[in-house]
Amino acid sequence: MSPTEAKQRIQALTAELKQHNYNYYVLAMPTIEDFDFDHKLKELDKLEKEFPDYADPDSPTQRVGGEVTKEFVTVKHRWPMLSLGNTYNEQELIDFDQRIRKAIGDNFEYVCELKFDGLSMSLTYQDGKLARAVTRGDGTQGDEVTTNVRTIHSIPKKLIAGSNYPELFEIRGEVFMHRKAFERLNKERTDNGEVTYANPRNFASGTMKLQDSAEVARRPLDCFLYGLYTEKQLFKTHWESLQAVKEWGFHVDDHSRLCSDINGVLDFIAHWDTERHHLSYDIDGIVIKVNNYSQQQELGFTAKSPRWAISYKFKAERVETELLEVTYQVGRTGAVTPVANLKPVLLAGTTVKRATLHNADEITERLKLHEHDTVYVEKGGEIIPKIISVNLDKRKPGAKAIEYITHCPACDTKLLRTEGEAAWYCPNDEGCPPQIVGKIQHYIGRKAMNIDGLGDETITTFYNQGFVSHISDLYSLGEHAAELKQMGRFGEKSINNMLDGIEKSKQQPFEKVLFGLGIRYVGATVAAKLVAHFKTIDRLMTASVEELTAAEEIGGRIAESITEYFADPVHKQEIEKLREKGLQFVAEEKEVVLASDKLAGKTFIISGTFERSRDELKDIIEQNGGKILSSISAKLNYLVAGDNMGPSKLEKATKLNIPIISDEELMALLN
Ligand code: IVH
Repeated sequence: MSPTEAKQRIQALTAELKQHNYNYYVLAMPTIEDFDFDHKLKELDKLEKEFPDYADPDSPTQRVGGEVTKEFVTVKHRWPMLSLGNTYNEQELIDFDQRIRKAIGDNFEYVCELKFDGLSMSLTYQDGKLARAVTRGDGTQGDEVTTNVRTIHSIPKKLIAGSNYPELFEIRGEVFMHRKAFERLNKERTDNGEVTYANPRNFASGTMKLQDSAEVARRPLDCFLYGLYTEKQLFKTHWESLQAVKEWGFHVDDHSRLCSDINGVLDFIAHWDTERHHLSYDIDGIVIKVNNYSQQQELGFTAKSPRWAISYKFKAERVETELLEVTYQVGRTGAVTPVANLKPVLLAGTTVKRATLHNADEITERLKLHEHDTVYVEKGGEIIPKIISVNLDKRKPGAKAIEYITHCPACDTKLLRTEGEAAWYCPNDEGCPPQIVGKIQHYIGRKAMNIDGLGDETITTFYNQGFVSHISDLYSLGEHAAELKQMGRFGEKSINNMLDGIEKSKQQPFEKVLFGLGIRYVGATVAAKLVAHFKTIDRLMTASVEELTAAEEIGGRIAESITEYFADPVHKQEIEKLREKGLQFVAEEKEVVLASDKLAGKTFIISGTFERSRDELKDIIEQNGGKILSSISAKLNYLVAGDNMGPSKLEKATKLNIPIISDEELMALLN
């Protein structure tokens, strides 16, 4: 390669890899596979060594990769958070082993650990309490995300008393999401008309970037710890430290192994290459670390990774196939999801015919799909296969680029896109058949009204026959009993079953009805929280955004969706009809047995996060005769303040001279 060519190639690779780093670490939306990224990084590294004059001092070969984001406080790491060198084959591992032998001789051990596919996190503990959590960021400084991390159950807020942890230490690990939770939450997002995440790693990383820790708490994350950092060295080996931190209360993965040589490492890798599919979370490789700390010190570091550790990355199974067609599905909220229909192909033991395309950008920006393209399809740890890239060599001459549809495939209404969101949606919620049918199907579903004797297909039939076009029409189906019989599809018994089921649904509690209405962003948990807080539909319908966000776990986005929903006269009319039919729009009165009347006549607002849940505190107050208010005014007696309370509440309460008390002080009022 001539120097001019090398210069150009170095510049192009540097720019491309910087963009990929940004997509991966900052946006949590990677557009390249790890394997291809590493391949390009190695090419750049080689060229920079050959032509050092052209190397960018800020080259991706010299940096860890991430960046800090603007929304969080930036914190400098006491010890830099480095990354690991990657290998993809046995030979590279044997080379690694030989480099180590050359440096420290033959007398050492390895610790093999799973390489969890999430985001790395550094936790600081002071006096046995979680003091701070910081993301890796650019390796030197990261984002302070303590409030978000406090919502992760497996991360101890307090260490086990009596275990001999040091006064101050840092511990590092990987925050991730279990595959089951990922699938459940992604499904919920599809149901709510939100854009889905491509894999659990992106979901976990996107979640940590949220400003609203109530939303973080709704998304179950987990964390495995794998590195202890202390001022004074407490243990001789990494293995010993792992055993100790387990006793202090940390979640340490039990699959790690001590290996006496590289053959043990290779056996461990061979085992997990197939066994990884049976884990409940994704791993993307194995991390191999020299066990002894003084040997680690002797080996030292390069600019961005330790010489005493390396990662072996598994290759995902990948096949080539033809894209037959892109079709579009319209969900009950109007969100449009593109689907790639593929020429059936065998991949990791199953025949793949379809792949999700997530959103319009995936088609027109990331993949730049053309008609009948040959695509690479991969199934990593994930269940749904994805299109990785296009084999451009096989693109048919003259093939047309695929354009995203502009009109609804079902009702031809012009599609819209909300600013800042990736999904297009059909705004014709009253007239678009899949939306109407989808809403009624959602209402009868198991998690909502759980109506026996009615299924999704029957709803489609009833809609096509003109029997139902609103939820409330279900309660007039009895009037069509004769016509139903005449259709010949339903026997008398099944019609009776169906009508019975519909009748019984009138007894379903308010939170099920509210969830059944299918308001955007109001899932089952949110519906239950709203009912607990507002008690009646009338209060909920007239609540302002401010009043809504005062309820536990209700953020601005949910609040706005609710006020928008109830502002629509069609929705109000539908609720009136359901009310006339006898559905439950008032919370079931739990029999409140007053524990005492010590708080009688006193009013409270609970704000911030506590070790107990806010609901628990609310119950305690109410069971002792106190009342919860929704906003701060002169009528308020106490503001119960936890961690991370909003500054405006604090300011308002201080101005009005309202006593601000902790949860412990609240308990003291009872004694
Ligand atoms: S040790 C100095 N152990 O992989 C190296 N990292 O590519 C410290 N990771 O940033 C990392 N599982 O986010 C280590 N068992 C494990 C790991 C692990 C996943 C991640 C971590 C790190 C990245 C390096």
